Amino acid sequence: MNLPLLETTEYQPVATRPGPAGRRVYIETYGCQMNVADSELVASILADAGFQITEQAEQADIILLNTCAVREHAEERVIGRVSQLNGLRAHRPNLTLGILGCMAQHLSKTLPDRAPFVDLVMGPDSYRRLPQLLSQSSDDALLDVRLDRSENYSGVHPQRTTGTNAWVTIIRGCDKFCTFCIVPFVRGRERSVAADQIVRQVQHIAAEGFKEVTLLGQTVNSYRADDVDFADLLRQVSQVEGIERVRFTSPYPVDFTDRVIDAMAEVGPVCPSLHLPVQSGSDEQLARMRRGYTVDQYRQLVHKLRAALPDLALTTDIITGFCGETDADFRQTCDLMEEIRYDSAFMFKYSEREGTYAHKKLPDDVPQAVKGERLQHIIALQEGISRQINQQQVGRTVEVLVEGPSKRPAADGQPRYYGRTPQGKTAIFPQLAASNELVAVHIARTTSHTLFGDRIDDAA
Ligand code: 5AD
Repeated sequence: MNLPLLETTEYQPVATRPGPAGRRVYIETYGCQMNVADSELVASILADAGFQITEQAEQADIILLNTCAVREHAEERVIGRVSQLNGLRAHRPNLTLGILGCMAQHLSKTLPDRAPFVDLVMGPDSYRRLPQLLSQSSDDALLDVRLDRSENYSGVHPQRTTGTNAWVTIIRGCDKFCTFCIVPFVRGRERSVAADQIVRQVQHIAAEGFKEVTLLGQTVNSYRADDVDFADLLRQVSQVEGIERVRFTSPYPVDFTDRVIDAMAEVGPVCPSLHLPVQSGSDEQLARMRRGYTVDQYRQLVHKLRAALPDLALTTDIITGFCGETDADFRQTCDLMEEIRYDSAFMFKYSEREGTYAHKKLPDDVPQAVKGERLQHIIALQEGISRQINQQQVGRTVEVLVEGPSKRPAADGQPRYYGRTPQGKTAIFPQLAASNELVAVHIARTTSHTLFGDRIDDAA
């Protein structure tokens, strides 16, 4: 990642008031990839203002937790973590502790009571003002949770942590208002970034040495800026020299156009992997969730995608125990999973979120124990399906973009390397390989989560 940076006028440091020079900031990220990307924005904004980013919480003068509000559990974890970090004050009385992101936005009123030692609470549209707030001192927690319909952080070039994939946020916010979901309330309205800015950002990323980009948005395929739609954008980004893999997450089923399917099929760098959240296999539940599609419409979309992209790896999100879910509704979800056969799935128990339509109007009436049993059932079901699908990879040779040495060495203690296939599956092999290298791996065995094999190109 040490190639020269592109010279553009777009990515000059943003004009911010200088912060206290050299104050060290540690950022910890929870939740979705958009939060990972937002933390990179925050790092960039702070570095440009003279703060120093550190990887060590213990060395930091300022600790920021970038948080998630999508389920209650995510919020409880952060409260636990921030209380633990508060213990560092014994040695660092001047430590600043801040909560950023969706949970900060969601709990702005109650956080000062629940975690009185927090110094700063800031929502996802306020990060440009972070250097300024960090330069103020106050006995009360500093609060900035204004949502801004136009903030898309245009002109800020995120400070990317090393790795093989660069996240690029192309659309912020969400206008869908699914009845269970807090996102529209904490991330505000949908707004797309201009296509020429995105392309310049991707050129910059390619010049930094990245081969893979993932375009991000809560509903990424709802992208539209002037006359450029998501299909156009996929084509434009794929043409950037040096970019070999383009991914995107997460698309919203209703907004999936034939133009996007065509672009995925026709454009080489767009990877054959797709995360297409279904949430439930029951029409009644989908209607209650206000997802805007029926099971059959979703099924037709999957058929079209698979016809156009025979290698497509499909993953999804499923919620168990949403308001009013009967045994029959749940069985329909299981049936749909068996029919579609996802490569993998993220599965969750419904967690009521204050402020949503469901919280106001729909009783959270499935007992916790039932939610839990249903979740365990679909996790086991999906494990079996994933194992069978991965098994079909045995004997094939796949292209792997190497991420680096695997954290777990082989049983004999020898190091192993890992990376991802175009389908987004993790592959592990023992032969030496450099991070960010594209290698060929022959698959010998698989589990429900991982492919194992040998590198068969030149470097053995
Ligand atoms: N409870 C449980 N899961 C939820 N999700 C979103 N909101 C909730 C909630 N209130 C899940 C959905 C979504 C994923 C990111 O999180 O499945 O697709």
